[in-house]
Amino acid sequence: MSFQIIGTGSAYPAASITNDDISKFVDTSDEWISTRTGIRSRRLAWDETVSDYAVHAAQGALENAGTKPEELDLIICATARGEFLTPSLACVVQSRLGAGCPAFDINAACSGFLYALDAAEGWFARGRASRVLVVAAEQMSELVNWNDRSTCVLFGDGAGAAVLAPGEGLQSICIHAKGSTEELRIACAQGNSPFAKPRENSPFLQMDGKGVYKFAVSAMCHDLEQAIEQAGLSQEEIDLVLPHQANIRIIETAIHRLNIPAERYRTNIDRYGNTSAASIPILLDELNRAGELRPGMMLALTAFGGGLTSGACVIRWTK
Ligand code: ACO
Repeated sequence: MSFQIIGTGSAYPAASITNDDISKFVDTSDEWISTRTGIRSRRLAWDETVSDYAVHAAQGALENAGTKPEELDLIICATARGEFLTPSLACVVQSRLGAGCPAFDINAACSGFLYALDAAEGWFARGRASRVLVVAAEQMSELVNWNDRSTCVLFGDGAGAAVLAPGEGLQSICIHAKGSTEELRIACAQGNSPFAKPRENSPFLQMDGKGVYKFAVSAMCHDLEQAIEQAGLSQEEIDLVLPHQANIRIIETAIHRLNIPAERYRTNIDRYGNTSAASIPILLDELNRAGELRPGMMLALTAFGGGLTSGACVIRWTK
C-alpha cells in the first residue's frame, strides 16, 4: 500500500521584498538578479518564525484534506534548521496543531520534501499510518550572509505542506546523495567550551554557485528520467513537472535535455526565490488551489540541493 495526496497548504511571511529593495543595500540590480536567476521578489520573515508559517501551511493542508490534527499518525518536517535545534520543528508543529502523534525532522536541504515523502511511504507500506502530515519549511533569510550578493539575493522564506492517506497516488520515487561539503554548506553555531579549539567557520551559507548549478542540471535530468521509467511511463505521459525552484536557467537547461514539452513545467520562482525544501510543496499548493490539477494527472516532482542531495517522484493526482 502506498499513499495519495489528499490535501495541500502553504504559507509565508507577509513581507514581499523586490530586487530593487535589495539593491538599496547590496551592490546588485534587478537586471542582474532577474536575468541570471528568474527571481523578481521573495518573502522574507520580519517578526514571523519558521514555526509560525510551518503551522499555517499545515493547517491549510489539514483543512484542504478534511483531516483533524488528532487523526494524524505521523508528522514529518523537512527543514535545514527549524526554530530550535531541539525540539524539532515537527514537534513544535505537533504541539501547536494539538496533534498527539510521533514527529521528527528530516534535513536533506532543498530535496527535503522528496526525502520526507520517501520516508512516509515506508509508514504506509508497513501499515503504521493512515494519515501523515509532511511539512517543508525554511527560513533561509537567517542562514545567508546579507553582505554576500552572490547568495543573499537567491533565497526566500516559506512553507508548504501535504496530507497523505493510503492510496495508489505514488507511482515511483528515487532519492540520492553525493556527500560533499565543497559545493554548499552552512556551519553550526559553535559552543563556548574553553576546552575546544575555535574553528574558523563562517556561520553563513557558503556556496560554489557554478558547482551546484552543474550538479543540479545533471541530477534533475537523471532523477526525472529514473522516476518516470520506474513508474512505467514515457516522458510524454507526464502532465506537469514541478521542479525545485532554484534558478530558472537550471530548469530551462533541463527542459532542453529532456523530452517533456516545455509548457508542462510549472514555476513560481519569480515571486518566492529559492525556498529550499518548501519550494515544491508551495508550488503544488498553488496549482491545487488554482484548479490546475485534475484526477488522473501524472505529476513529476524533482529536487536537488545541499548534501549534495537530489530526488524525484511521479504522483498520480487523485484529489
Ligand atoms: N548582483 C550583481 N552581480 C553579481 C551578483 C549579484 N547579486 N552575484 C554575483 N555577481 C557577479 C559576480 O561577482 C561575477 O562578477 P565578475 O565576473 O566581475 O567576477 C559575475 O556576477 C558572474 O558571477 P557568477 O557566479 O559567474 O554568476 P553565475 O552566472 O554563475 O550565476 C548563480 C550565479 C545565480 C548563483 C548560479 O551559479 C546558480 O544559480 N547556481 C546554482 C545555485 C543553486 O541552485 N542553489 C540551490 C541549492 S541551495 C540549497 O540547497 C540550500
